[in-house]
Amino acid sequence: MNRKNILVTGGAGYIGSHTLVELYNSGYKPIVVDNLSNSSLNNITGAEQIIKSKIDFYKVDCTDFEQMNKVFKEKKNIDAVIHFAAFKSVEESVRHPDKYFSNNIRSLETLIDLMNSHNVNNIIFSSSCTVYGTPEFLPVNELAPFGKAESPYGETKQLCEKLIEKSTINSISLRYFNPVGSHPTSLIGDCSADKPNNLVPIICEVASGKRESMQIFGNDYNTIDGTCVRDYIHVVDLAKAHVMAVNHILNNTKIKTAYNLGVGKGVSVQEVIDSFQKVNNLKISYELGPRRSGDVEKIYSDNTKINDELGWFPVMSFESGLESAWNWEKLKN
Ligand code: UD1
Repeated sequence: MNRKNILVTGGAGYIGSHTLVELYNSGYKPIVVDNLSNSSLNNITGAEQIIKSKIDFYKVDCTDFEQMNKVFKEKKNIDAVIHFAAFKSVEESVRHPDKYFSNNIRSLETLIDLMNSHNVNNIIFSSSCTVYGTPEFLPVNELAPFGKAESPYGETKQLCEKLIEKSTINSISLRYFNPVGSHPTSLIGDCSADKPNNLVPIICEVASGKRESMQIFGNDYNTIDGTCVRDYIHVVDLAKAHVMAVNHILNNTKIKTAYNLGVGKGVSVQEVIDSFQKVNNLKISYELGPRRSGDVEKIYSDNTKINDELGWFPVMSFESGLESAWNWEKLKN
């Protein structure tokens, strides 16, 4: 089989590793670059076990021009790049904004330079619904303007989208809502080295006893039960959308677009905790706490554009996301 080469930066990370599996299963050859700073080699070996094939892996930092240049030279025919590699903690970005600006922007600039010089014309960029800030209308669609960024992390996503927009490269930015879950095999998952900041990984840590308890950040929002509302999307559905974006960009010329990637349904923090307890048949110890600064009250996606243009629809249930997240937590160490 003559597989097209897809360079996946950050392929040892959470969403990256799930995308490797879906790319391979759809006839592509993923090639990974990752500096393993907030990811794990286990995700590469896990993906290899799932697809029963070796994956080319380079331990390289995306901001390192020379090393990245070597990869582009060695691989010669790269058909498209999926750029996941980035720092992703909202909270850390507030404490260390420079770290976020220098890494997240510089890695993309390096990539664009190299893509230009090696004649690689297609990029799928890992963006976030955070680019909308607090949207005026819900569900939010892609016509909504970029809002005031709630964090330096959010600002880097906005700046990266703008950088890509200005480049001559064909591009698709995928604006993720809140990814949850793991591959059904539990062989790959969220391997971030940092203490998790996201809701479901924190719930999992409470369930496993790694944390004694957790807080719900605010219960006085104007929502169904006072807690914040988000749009939780199963990571396998998310990964499949990347393959559809690759298909689309390789089959069309002159593409510059962005798609929302959520399920289109708002779920409150309280509902997530309740569902997690029910699906996994266990009790989570939590208390009500103050609001977390920078949190948006509610945000969920209008998926019409990606439904119509790529034919992508989510198929995995929210409950299966919570179940697989817990299975991963139990098996990951
Ligand atoms: C944000 C971004 C998202 C980005 C992600 C990266 C927005 C709208 N979303 O997600 O695009 O990819 O960061 O990390 O900006 N919560 C608790 N207790 C906890 C942890 C979380 O109540 O211990 C609540 C939060 O207040 C929030 C919800 O759970 O309402 C989800 O939080 P989290 O998982 O951190 O994701 P976002 O902040 O929505």
